[in-house]
Amino acid sequence: MCGIVGYIGHRQAYDVLMKGLHRLEYRGYDSAGIALMKEDGKLNVYKSKGRVADLEAKVVGCDVGGSIGIAHTRWATHGEPCDRNAHPQVSQSGRIALVHNGTIENYAVLKAALAQRGYAFASDTDTEVLVQLVDYIQTVNGCSLMDAVKEALAQVEGAYAIAVVERGNPDTLIVARKSSPLVIGVGVGEIFIASDATPMVGYTDRVIYLKDNEVAEITRPSNLKIQSLESGKTSAPDIQTLRMSVEQLEKGGYETFMLKEIFEQPHTLRDCIRGRIADDGQRVVLSGVLENRDRFLQARRMIIVACGTSWHAGLIGKRIIQELCCLPVEVEYASEFRYGHPQITDKDIVVALSQSGETADTLAAIQLAKSKGAFVYGICNVVGASIPRNTDSGTYIHVGPEIGVASTKAFTGQVAVLALLALCVGQERGTVGRDTICCITRAMRQMPEIIQAVLGLDPVIRELSRTFTYARNFLYLGRGYNYPTALEGALKLKEISYIHAEGYPAAEMKHGPIALIDHEMPVVVIAPDDSLHDKVVNNIRQVKSRGGLVIALVTQGDASIREMADYCLEMPKVPECLTPIVASVPLQLLAYHIARIKGKDVDRPRNLAKSVTVE
Ligand code: M6R
Repeated sequence: MCGIVGYIGHRQAYDVLMKGLHRLEYRGYDSAGIALMKEDGKLNVYKSKGRVADLEAKVVGCDVGGSIGIAHTRWATHGEPCDRNAHPQVSQSGRIALVHNGTIENYAVLKAALAQRGYAFASDTDTEVLVQLVDYIQTVNGCSLMDAVKEALAQVEGAYAIAVVERGNPDTLIVARKSSPLVIGVGVGEIFIASDATPMVGYTDRVIYLKDNEVAEITRPSNLKIQSLESGKTSAPDIQTLRMSVEQLEKGGYETFMLKEIFEQPHTLRDCIRGRIADDGQRVVLSGVLENRDRFLQARRMIIVACGTSWHAGLIGKRIIQELCCLPVEVEYASEFRYGHPQITDKDIVVALSQSGETADTLAAIQLAKSKGAFVYGICNVVGASIPRNTDSGTYIHVGPEIGVASTKAFTGQVAVLALLALCVGQERGTVGRDTICCITRAMRQMPEIIQAVLGLDPVIRELSRTFTYARNFLYLGRGYNYPTALEGALKLKEISYIHAEGYPAAEMKHGPIALIDHEMPVVVIAPDDSLHDKVVNNIRQVKSRGGLVIALVTQGDASIREMADYCLEMPKVPECLTPIVASVPLQLLAYHIARIKGKDVDRPRNLAKSVTVE
């Protein structure tokens, strides 16, 4: 969702910014633009609806010189995707150019006031209001760009990360943030800025995560003045080391990022559990829990808040934690939690689950939970993102950058970390026995080999997918631990293939969805050899009696289901709480191949964004 890149230094800004925009493409967008300034202070702005490649095509033969610039990928919120609404937005005078990620809530009031002062608007965006406001303040006050930006932001309500340049001032770049992420990369005689660190990889590994309500004035060669927008106090930059390589950001021989990320899972699951299970397998060591042991011992309830795929992982986490920790757990969509008058006390632990660590609703849920005294634990993938920086403690899933919009390796990583969390909390509360810990940790250690074996199903699933490209609807059924797996399988299919799919608890089918079943309806049933296996067998029988087409995911050697199902995919046996990790992999592959056969862009599905930084 909206990506910002900026550069000031000794290189051609165009090259750095375009490379940066390509790196941010995974976030999802519908138009792109760039503003470049030459040493003589002339500002050139180019914008295009569509892909970054469309923008590149548009600027062929144009003047793209200059060593300072800002660029943007826009995901439309105010106004349709088109050149006019793309960023950078430029003030009426042509003096100020600005890129923005977020939403300005009071833009209508500000716009009306500016209109009264003679400002006309060329776009439908809230961003144009902000750039006009900066222009107006500077014109009236005759102040510096930094002071005009600070004054404008004092009048703005909403969320933003912005980067601003001024015609005739090729030595200054201003950035600021509130609730939307912004990272500054510090090179030698050059500074990079971006919505996340990916555009900086290969240029510098020294990064500063700008904090909420901070503004930074960046001047040549690489001077930085960081100030609080609230107190006006200046702070020393907190430079951190970025651990991300160029290889991690590339496809590594795979046709898409999504396929690469599905196939990375043996290795990402190994990274995820590394150092967190004692050598003898009898203990789990999560420092975020052990350093706050008392909070976990005194807790009366856990509430998991998340969105989308992370919410599905949360549902699985609920079952594991309830089973191993004897603690009640609730799972809430962050977007509902924040407006649902949640009754929270200081005996609650709120677990915020997010791949990107930037999801606006999850961040708002965290603030609410903290304001009510809850202890907030973050489980996140992106190191240094807003969620880990705003929680009391937490655990990274460490699965590496996930570029494909559809979450795959982050989902399995989240479930693995939730299992570790349940084991660790359970062992400290004394609610889980050694044998259970050993059984689960042993299987977790074997997970890389187990997932490798499941990935061996790929050619079979690719072939099977051809059979189902005709389908307009799919049902996914599962019970217990695998009801959330069914939800996740359905989400994967719909988001990348645009086939309508629904996940249901298998036993609920007879209360309504069974009416949909006929010989054209593919029904994917997740039916491992677990405590509910026999019940699921009955559910399959009900589907088959009505002519449904059953694709079953079963434990190796399951003869009873093989007899009934139209297609059977076999998985190795693992403890029940880990079956969602194993079963989700064939479902990812099924969705992937159906979407590819239908010619869809699986890495960048229509209308979707990788990190959802608006409400
Ligand atoms: O970064 P997050 O985990 O907080 O993102 C939440 C959802 O937007 C995300 O899981 C989304 O549903 C996935 N892209 C689906 O594959």
